[in-house]
Amino acid sequence: MKQRMVVISNRLPIVVSQDDHGEWQINPGSGGLVTAMTPVMKANQGVWVGWPGCDEDAPIGRLLDTFAEKEGYSLAAVPLSEEEVEKYYFGFSNETLWPLFHDMLGNCHFNRDHFEAYKKVNRKFAERTAEVSLPDDFIWVHDYQLAMTGWNLRQLGQWQRLAFFLHIPFPETDLFRRLPWKNELLLSLLAYDLIGFQTLRDHRNFVRCATSLVPGVKIVSRHRNYTILRHGERTFRAGHFPISIDFEDFSARAKTKEVADAAWYLHENFEERQIILGIDRLDYTKGIPERFLAFERALEKYPEMEGKVSLLQVVVPSRTMVPDYMDLKAYLEQLAGHINGRFSMHSWVPLRFHYRSLDPVQLLAHYRSAEIALITPLRDGMNLVAKEYCACSVDNLGVLILSEFAGAVDQLGKHALLVNPYDVETTADTIFKAFIMPEGERRRRMTLLRSQIKRFDVHQWTKSFISKLK
Ligand code: F6P
Repeated sequence: MKQRMVVISNRLPIVVSQDDHGEWQINPGSGGLVTAMTPVMKANQGVWVGWPGCDEDAPIGRLLDTFAEKEGYSLAAVPLSEEEVEKYYFGFSNETLWPLFHDMLGNCHFNRDHFEAYKKVNRKFAERTAEVSLPDDFIWVHDYQLAMTGWNLRQLGQWQRLAFFLHIPFPETDLFRRLPWKNELLLSLLAYDLIGFQTLRDHRNFVRCATSLVPGVKIVSRHRNYTILRHGERTFRAGHFPISIDFEDFSARAKTKEVADAAWYLHENFEERQIILGIDRLDYTKGIPERFLAFERALEKYPEMEGKVSLLQVVVPSRTMVPDYMDLKAYLEQLAGHINGRFSMHSWVPLRFHYRSLDPVQLLAHYRSAEIALITPLRDGMNLVAKEYCACSVDNLGVLILSEFAGAVDQLGKHALLVNPYDVETTADTIFKAFIMPEGERRRRMTLLRSQIKRFDVHQWTKSFISKLK
């Protein structure tokens, strides 16, 4: 793509920190979006607009310029005050939209003050973007934190091609209607030329919501993975574009000696046991307590597993200021203690619970060494961990157990073992099924999973999204 791209996301693709001497430093960030956008940004000297994630007054201007020179694209920071972070990020984004869009009404807090802050910050992102963008740019806004940024750009007289991609699910109309500010949010989404979702279900939910809640929105035509809609004089598109990973990169790195050695050391700690792996951000949408209960039930029901298997659950700290997240941590520790107290033997700890993030080599070593991945979110936009696990299962022997409520099920559902995470009994049976799965069947399933992910990788995702806007 020749056109310059302006990407807007809540966080910039960097990690800002201070060293022991108080010096500020910037390192490249990681994650799905960074992998997807970096090649496009470098190819046409794009601009990435976002929150640097540090104090509002941190003196990082020069560091951002140096980053730009080195990486070949620019960063435009949107500094946020403590109050903005509290109300816009922790508040409306993560205590209202996040639970609502993940079908978890019980976790939602509806606070007018938080919504006002959300609108103000979305406006701030738009203003910063208007300063750095050019008339021919292609502007791509990402995720629920910035749903209203596009509408604000239009208000500021920006008429570039404008796209939005929602990385999390979009709820059914009946749930969306609970949002007191539903009309304002929905109307602002109609300002985009293209609105992308992860799955057909999300795409359909949005089209139903828009056509039933906004007077005058009509479907013009339906196509294989997108719909053309009209609102007044304007037409725009909504479609589904399942995000993916850089398969070749994960697979090649998993094959390196460094990762193979780290995987070997990791497995040595588990002696002759199979490792069942869970890796998640600490989040109540990930179904971690339900997973622990299913594992407990499997140990109870299938004594053959005793001493032969361990659940290794890595939980990455996240959104630590939101009370529901703190409560979840305490509950998980209590459950892990209960399960270990009940089943441990002097040489066997059935459940290992690690609350920390992993460096890239350790992450790949975990994927590579685990015989089984247990990925059981109650609801998830996509779940890239499932795809990363398969990409790193380079001997083709890993078994993927996947929740039917993860977006990834649309691509991986045929060859993974599917579970309803709320159904503890059947999940326990599925864990046992994976435990005893013969090598031939493991190999057949994993080979097919890997080839599916390889075919529709993240580069394919970017291309297919951009082509729909042309
Ligand atoms: O996928 C949802 C998402 O909120 C992304 O927007 C974000 O990059 C990621 O999860 C991590 O969340 P946070 O920035 O809140 O730590």
